[in-house]
Amino acid sequence: MTYSSLLPIPTGPLQVPVVARDRADGNSQPLKFSLVIPTYNESGNVEKILAQLTHLLDGFIPNDYELILVDDNSPDQTWQVAQALTADYPQLRVMRRQQERGLSSAVIRGWQVARGDILGVIDADLQHPPEVLLKLLQSVLDGADLAVASRHVEGGGVSDWSVVRRFLSRGAQVLGLVVCPAVVGRVTDPMSGYFMVRRSAIGGPHMNPLGYKILLEVIGRGRIGEIAEVGYVFQERESGESKVTWRQYVEYLGHLARLRSRGRIGRLRQRFPIERFIRFGIVGFSGVFVDMAVLYIMSEIFGLGLTRSKIIAGEVAILNNFLWNDAWTFADIAQGQKGWKARLKRLLKFNTICLGGLIMNVLLINFFFNIVFQKNFKYLSNLIAIALVTVWNFWINLKLSWRVTEVKP
Ligand code: GDD
Ligand code: MN
Repeated sequence: MTYSSLLPIPTGPLQVPVVARDRADGNSQPLKFSLVIPTYNESGNVEKILAQLTHLLDGFIPNDYELILVDDNSPDQTWQVAQALTADYPQLRVMRRQQERGLSSAVIRGWQVARGDILGVIDADLQHPPEVLLKLLQSVLDGADLAVASRHVEGGGVSDWSVVRRFLSRGAQVLGLVVCPAVVGRVTDPMSGYFMVRRSAIGGPHMNPLGYKILLEVIGRGRIGEIAEVGYVFQERESGESKVTWRQYVEYLGHLARLRSRGRIGRLRQRFPIERFIRFGIVGFSGVFVDMAVLYIMSEIFGLGLTRSKIIAGEVAILNNFLWNDAWTFADIAQGQKGWKARLKRLLKFNTICLGGLIMNVLLINFFFNIVFQKNFKYLSNLIAIALVTVWNFWINLKLSWRVTEVKP
């Protein structure tokens, strides 16, 4: 009995390819449908769900679909059970992840190797009734970008959920509507783990899910136009147990925050390069040590007076910061402005701006100490002044000293 080898595991960003992978049978037509089944300790459910799915899809789109089971190295060897079943289910392909873990990323890794134009996801534990799949598929074939199985539309519901679980599920939804209405408000069951989407609607953007709620990621980062919803009743588990813990609830909050700030952080990043600022800050910090060391050498060893020692120390620190910023913080820009003349120009600008910063520092510390804090909190005033001047130094130097002007094409 031969069974197919495990799927290669994609690495790098969670990004669904815009164009589907080639079909194994050499047919130039892309496969119609790829269904991902994420599993963790589902060895007791695998055979049942595969039999039901294959039966349904063979009747609806024969030879035009694939099942991709993505297992995170389950202790109960779910991946092995599934791999052995590939002999009976030619449409089945199995991925065993050993480095990564998590439902949402498992689904996207599955979509990354998929060959279908329509990408779906269903749980392996038969709590999502497979027969609903055909209605979802039909909705996408009829034009919807996304078709979601919902517990909160006509014909939908949950079988035997405790009041607490119902409250938590609805509570999470309400919280989502407050924090991220543009995403959570687009569907009646944003927590649903049972849906399918057109590849063209999610291909391209980097996904960045957290926890279980892959649907939110699809709506939040995809180009989702028309959405269809089909009612279904969430069934009781036949075998195994839910992997949901309090951790999924915390991850859900983190995911909402991420989605809420998507685009804004991106825009902010474009407007204010945070990573470069952090480097600038680290260099600035090194300058403090240089300043202190030179102040010590000049005043203690060479016996110079405080003011002259401080001026020399300050200048050496500025030189230090310039060299590091030119070689690290703004290396990419400096690369385009080669030659000692250009460098000297940058140094002069940097020096002038930092001296301006020094004056601002003195003004600000006096403002906070004397006016804001009424002659209290000297060191806090100094800290605030340093922080504000660091942003000033960074921004003005970014705009003036390392301005992208003389880069040769
Ligand atoms: N690969 C992988 N990695 N699969 C996982 C992981 C993981 O870390 N954790 C869970 N799974 C698989 C399970 O094996 C199962 O097939 C599916 O993901 C859902 O996990 P459950 O633990 O059974 O979730 P649930 O039943 O409590 O909640 C489900 O239904 C809710 C209502 O629709 C999930 O789909 C939720 O996302 C959904 O909100
Ligand atoms: Mn389940």
